[in-house]
Amino acid sequence: MTPQRESLQQYLASRRKLVDETLDRELTAPATAPQSIHEAMRYAVLGGGKRIRPVMAMAAAEACGAAIEPLLKAFAALELIHTYSLVHDDLPALDNDDLRRGRKTTHVVFGEALGILTGDALLTEAFVWMAAPIAGIDAARQLRALRQVAVAVDSKGMIGGQVADIESERAQERSADGEMLMRQLEFIHENKTGKLLTAAAVFGGILAGASDQKLAALHRYGHATGLAFQIVDDLLDVEGSSAALGKTAGKDVAQGKLTYPSLIGVERAREEAARLLQVAVDNADMIAGPLNYLADIARYICERRS
Ligand code: IPE
Ligand code: IPE
Ligand code: MG
Ligand code: MG
Ligand code: MG
Repeated sequence: MTPQRESLQQYLASRRKLVDETLDRELTAPATAPQSIHEAMRYAVLGGGKRIRPVMAMAAAEACGAAIEPLLKAFAALELIHTYSLVHDDLPALDNDDLRRGRKTTHVVFGEALGILTGDALLTEAFVWMAAPIAGIDAARQLRALRQVAVAVDSKGMIGGQVADIESERAQERSADGEMLMRQLEFIHENKTGKLLTAAAVFGGILAGASDQKLAALHRYGHATGLAFQIVDDLLDVEGSSAALGKTAGKDVAQGKLTYPSLIGVERAREEAARLLQVAVDNADMIAGPLNYLADIARYICERRS
């Protein structure tokens, strides 16, 4: 029997609910000593967010024919890694932001030391969750899935992108070499944002036991969607309001960040996101499965207003 197809809105809402319930259940209780770190971890993680990375992993697994129930804790771990990256991204030494997901940032509420340690704890906890045995999944397959997530966020992945982002502040004042700046910009975006999104799609595929051909399509899908995701994030920073975004708008220009709108303008940045969306959709369609929301999710990522 073909599963009933819901609207994307219903799909996103039901999968987000599963993520939120898993996070709430699995995160350490706030009364556990030391209380401050467990409160801060829950504050950072449970305060909203679109939950795109775990939802993308679920969508990839479902498109490859897996039941997601046994995989929920592993998928929720991706949100811990993402949230850790946001908590650290907002620290005074990085983007120095006081607003996130419509609330004060973790370091503003709990202090800078707890902000740093909350990020550390969330990253570590993510690996505890991903390494927990999963019923029906062979340990070698799980290890392969976990390892590619670890590689995606290491110093040659997400952290490398964050380093290049910081080191490229005011790069356009220092250089007029457009081609060099574009290569640098692609490096930043593919790494700081693209790699974790790619790893999320591939994570779902590996855990679902997808063929190498489908995994390659998921990889291309994740790469295109991930880069488009950060281009749209750059556009929203220029065009959105802090109230709509739940984070401070207009910060990229203020901090001299190297972004798509700053380097090639808003129009061409939009065109590039549209081109990448087409690549994502073409690869999503190669997965074929009866319950495939991957293309719809890529469209949502490009059309979102927050
Ligand atoms: C924001 O990510 C940071 C980037 C990588 C661009 P999201 O836009 O997914 O943030 P939340 O999780 O919904 O708050
Ligand atoms: C953040 O990019 C990417 C990571 C946290 C890895 P941004 O600095 O553009 O994210 P926002 O705009 O603060 O959410
Ligand atoms: Mg940043
Ligand atoms: Mg930032
Ligand atoms: Mg941004």
